[in-house]
Amino acid sequence: MINSKIEQLLAKMTLEEKVAQMLQVSFSPDKKEDALEWVKKGAGSFLSAWGDNAVELQKAALETRLGIPLILGIDAIHGHGCNDHSTIFPSQLTMACSWDTDMAEKVGRATAKEVAADNVHWTFSPVLCLGRDLRWGRVGETFGEDAYLAGELGAAIIKGYQGKNLSDDDAILACAKHYIAYGEAIGGRDAYDTSITWRKLRDVFLPPFKKAIDAGVGSFMTSYGSIDGTPFTTSKKALIEILRDELKYDGFVVTDWNTVNYLLWRQHLCANHGDASRLTAEAGNDMIMTSLEFYNAAIEEVKAGRLDEAVIDTAVRNILNMKDRLGLFEKPIRHLGRGLIGCEEHHKLSLESAKGSIVLLTNNNNTLPLREVKSLAVIGPNADSVRAQYGDWTYFSQPVLIADRPGIRPYVTLKEGLEEACQKRGIKFGYARGCSVTDKDRDNEGQIITKPDETEEFNEAVKLAKSSDVIIYAFGDRKDQAGENHDRANLELSGRQLELFKALKATGKTVIAVFISTKPLCVKKISDNVDAFVCDFSGGQFAGTALAGMIFGEFAPKGRLPIGFPITTGQLPVYYASFPGWHGDRHCDVPAEPLFAFGEGLGYTTFEYSDINVEVKNNETVKATVKVKNTGDSEGIETVQVYFRDLVSSIITPVKRLIGFKQITLSKGEEKTVEFEFGKDSFSLVNVNEETVTEPGEFTLFIGHSSKNNDLVSANFTLK
Ligand code: GLC
Repeated sequence: MINSKIEQLLAKMTLEEKVAQMLQVSFSPDKKEDALEWVKKGAGSFLSAWGDNAVELQKAALETRLGIPLILGIDAIHGHGCNDHSTIFPSQLTMACSWDTDMAEKVGRATAKEVAADNVHWTFSPVLCLGRDLRWGRVGETFGEDAYLAGELGAAIIKGYQGKNLSDDDAILACAKHYIAYGEAIGGRDAYDTSITWRKLRDVFLPPFKKAIDAGVGSFMTSYGSIDGTPFTTSKKALIEILRDELKYDGFVVTDWNTVNYLLWRQHLCANHGDASRLTAEAGNDMIMTSLEFYNAAIEEVKAGRLDEAVIDTAVRNILNMKDRLGLFEKPIRHLGRGLIGCEEHHKLSLESAKGSIVLLTNNNNTLPLREVKSLAVIGPNADSVRAQYGDWTYFSQPVLIADRPGIRPYVTLKEGLEEACQKRGIKFGYARGCSVTDKDRDNEGQIITKPDETEEFNEAVKLAKSSDVIIYAFGDRKDQAGENHDRANLELSGRQLELFKALKATGKTVIAVFISTKPLCVKKISDNVDAFVCDFSGGQFAGTALAGMIFGEFAPKGRLPIGFPITTGQLPVYYASFPGWHGDRHCDVPAEPLFAFGEGLGYTTFEYSDINVEVKNNETVKATVKVKNTGDSEGIETVQVYFRDLVSSIITPVKRLIGFKQITLSKGEEKTVEFEFGKDSFSLVNVNEETVTEPGEFTLFIGHSSKNNDLVSANFTLK
């Protein structure tokens, strides 16, 4: 659709102004003069400027010859985390535990308001990559291992961010990233080469991005990674053939941070900036994040006749069209009021989101919810750690790492939440840290608390345990063991965490483990030996209140794992959608199954599935019904999961694949019939010719409580 206003503007722009419009400059308050110089040159965007700085940059941009407004972007990944007074929601992986698309949309909407109130127009979120190799540092930023769940949650949060109309004051642009298959790097090595094929890319990794486009996402960010040696940033097949020609994507594409220069320095694909700028522009990248050498290099390439100016025009057109859809020409500066940032309503939403994201994985003899407790000891390095609860991409580490930054109130750590709960119930409360996670653990004031010798602290914790009825042990990882450039070769627990657990267990007291970590680790030695195991990943600002409420039975946990836990690092990959054909179906030194599987999670009641019925209607739609009964003695929320298997297919297909889920609430003894309806394309595969087809033949439909076979009922059906 031709936008004549934009065409007229484009016709007025010089080559220099066009190339500058493609630049996204990184803003830092101590280099404001440099930033204003780039504004004068006509830079089109900045990242990491917000509040007064954002307004100042925008006002300067309106003073330039053509007065084209800036589009300002920021990493608002689970809340407007760069602003330390913003509301911090659970991380994406934690939010994914709720399987709650309505909640994801609400979190997106609240985040958009806080970002827009700071005069920022665009968030580099959601991550739609899949977390399938847990050694990778950025698993915590994903919605987990499954493309269907990631696509559903991604589309929901995009709708939340972008609101009803992109030009609304409190709408911000979302960004589908990192396109594509960034998490599939060999060995879980961040930004490394992948060995996937285009067929597998279409089959496994493209669907969440398709759903993002269907949800109207306005921007894409390319991945640092590469497919069989071709960086995605220079892949015309990825960025033009598939994204533009096939998927009809009409937003713009931004590279990841400095990706253009990495073509020279890291991937050694280009000998100079000219080649890098030309390859990047011709492959279909519209905006260039922070590789500012692109400016002179691209201008030189066009003048030397090596780069067609029409390529630059296309990029600038895509950017200007999106600025127009955001209403930036009419309203470059918005006045929503900073009161939205960190407001009470959003704090309540963060708490609600945290409650729905808690996953109860074991609960022997119904240890939880706690009853008749006289004394409670909260022990462990992540029990009183706002840093551990926040995961990545908050003011502790973005846009720059301020290592000794104190936590900004309000927040509630697990220790604080349980202390308050004990006070309310007249339960004797004690706390001891006991040990560290890394050699640089920091407390909530930002000070390093790891000591060369923690024997005394360790013994104090054991002593406290001995004088208590129940022990809550909080452990996991720390931000400096995860995130970009922080992959792990060993997912066993670091420090003396396991040793401390064993000492606590040896006291003979009831021990409840609370896993607070950016991603799954090898926790079998703890989960096999505790009375209850609670997984909370990075629950955000009020995780302590949510966990305490669940532990004392104020509500029942409803979370289900969006990602499997391996028994050992070497068992990876443990994603449930595994392939048949493995001789022996397991390693000889660990059991076949992962420690915990995708879709797992307990409540305070039990559910039974029966009477599955599958009916094929005119060979086009498959209708399925199943009865679900609450067989326990309290109300519960059940996430009914639907998987399928293609029993004979022209290429090897997974033993099962998620294609639908519904959350239902059942009171004690209540039974409901749950219905699902699927079109034929739900049962499709990508064949050897990279065509998405549903092949005729026999299929199995599974419905149940998790991806584990003994949690599922099934029925076969045939498509002609
Ligand atoms: C980073 C990340 C990307 C982020 C961008 C801007 O390197 O890969 O997810 O949005 O740069 O901070």
